[in-house]
Amino acid sequence: MAAFAPMGSGPVGIGFVGVGMISDTYLENLQSFPDVEVLILGDLDVDRARAQADKHGVPAAGTVADVLAHPGVELVINLTIPAAHVEVSSAAIAAGKHVWSEKPIGIDRESALALLEQADAAGLRVGIAPDTVLGPGIQSAKRAIERGDIGRPLFAQTSMQYQGPEVFHPNPAFLYAHGAGPLFDMGPYYLTSLVSILGPVAAVAAVGLTPSEEREILVGPDAGKTFPVEVPSTINVLATFEGGAQSQSLLSFDSPLRRQGFFEISGTEGTISLPDPNMFTGRAAITRPFSHRGDDPGIGAGTEQPWTDVPEEGVVVGRGLGALDMARAIRTGRPHRATGELGYHVLDTMVSAQESAARGAFVTVESTVDPIEAVPVDFDPFARTV
Ligand SMILES: NC(=O)c1ccc[n+]([C@@H]2O[C@H](COP(=O)([O-])OP(=O)(O)OC[C@H]3O[C@@H](n4cnc5c(N)ncnc54)[C@H](O)[C@@H]3O)[C@@H](O)[C@H]2O)c1
Repeated sequence: MAAFAPMGSGPVGIGFVGVGMISDTYLENLQSFPDVEVLILGDLDVDRARAQADKHGVPAAGTVADVLAHPGVELVINLTIPAAHVEVSSAAIAAGKHVWSEKPIGIDRESALALLEQADAAGLRVGIAPDTVLGPGIQSAKRAIERGDIGRPLFAQTSMQYQGPEVFHPNPAFLYAHGAGPLFDMGPYYLTSLVSILGPVAAVAAVGLTPSEEREILVGPDAGKTFPVEVPSTINVLATFEGGAQSQSLLSFDSPLRRQGFFEISGTEGTISLPDPNMFTGRAAITRPFSHRGDDPGIGAGTEQPWTDVPEEGVVVGRGLGALDMARAIRTGRPHRATGELGYHVLDTMVSAQESAARGAFVTVESTVDPIEAVPVDFDPFARTV
């Protein structure tokens, strides 16, 4: 990532573009952080922007152009749908604003890379969700692994399987369109966590399934209407990492069994069970090989294997944490954590997995990313620091 000089002083002015379902939680959290100030909301649907501004007490609302022209906005929060992410982020950069975008950074390598080049040339920052990975849950596990608590990481398993987002989302079609599906919609949580702990992915192989070409909306005013499925709704991904570790990840919107957030990493000295990477908090625990316990091996029939909790450290908040980290970084000139480079590497890995599923062969992941620093234990979102 490019080096940055400190910029500005006082709370960082924020404008939103896209204020749909996920905007409530962003607004609640960002408005509770003293280091940022939400100034204006914009959406293609201006009435929706006005309604959200009224609901959350934001002083202004309007079109996307109104947000980008607002002189106080330094950081744009892009909560549009994935197919619009690059276009909106690029417009924000062109308007001289830093941008935080919901995941994924984009839906193809070329436009996402061009966005990063545009931002670098302008001396502006790009930050990419998920920021759940920056929460105390995953961060406490990351710190434990970095301390050597499981020895050298060898392999990871993750699983995200359920019936699909039409069980809660009133407009789920975009989640089955090109650039979405379980790989692009949920994959970023698992892959971003894996990369931030195990380092960059070297190669991937994947197999995908599309059991049904059409699905039905289950909730909201359009319940009963059908929409097309353009991508695999189940995908299994094998990855090798530059550092030598391996992972296997199931991502499925076709499973009657609901099992989300299954995440384990086994190392030479222990296996760690990590919290759901789509959550900011959760239990992490380690179980160790027999030789380290010196007690009951715990391998007899019906014997529960002993687990030791990893203490969770840090203040638990929610979505907006990554944008706050970015806002503080803008003021001090330090690197932010959820970088565009990381978002791009995760996108590159997902596109490579999609290509592998289509081609039936391993695909080398060409991009890489620098090591990502853990969030300090004393990072307090509610403190005024700028
Ligand atoms: N809904 C969730 O639970 C959830 C959770 C985490 C992340 N996300 C991510 O957040 C993003 C938004 O998801 P959502 O569920 O809020 O979607 P949504 O469909 O509810 O809302 C998207 C909003 O963006 C607006 N929009 C679309 N294109 C635009 C454009 N070009 N310019 C301006 N506005 C535009 C739409 O009018 C709409 O108001 C997606 O990237 C999604 O992956 C959603």
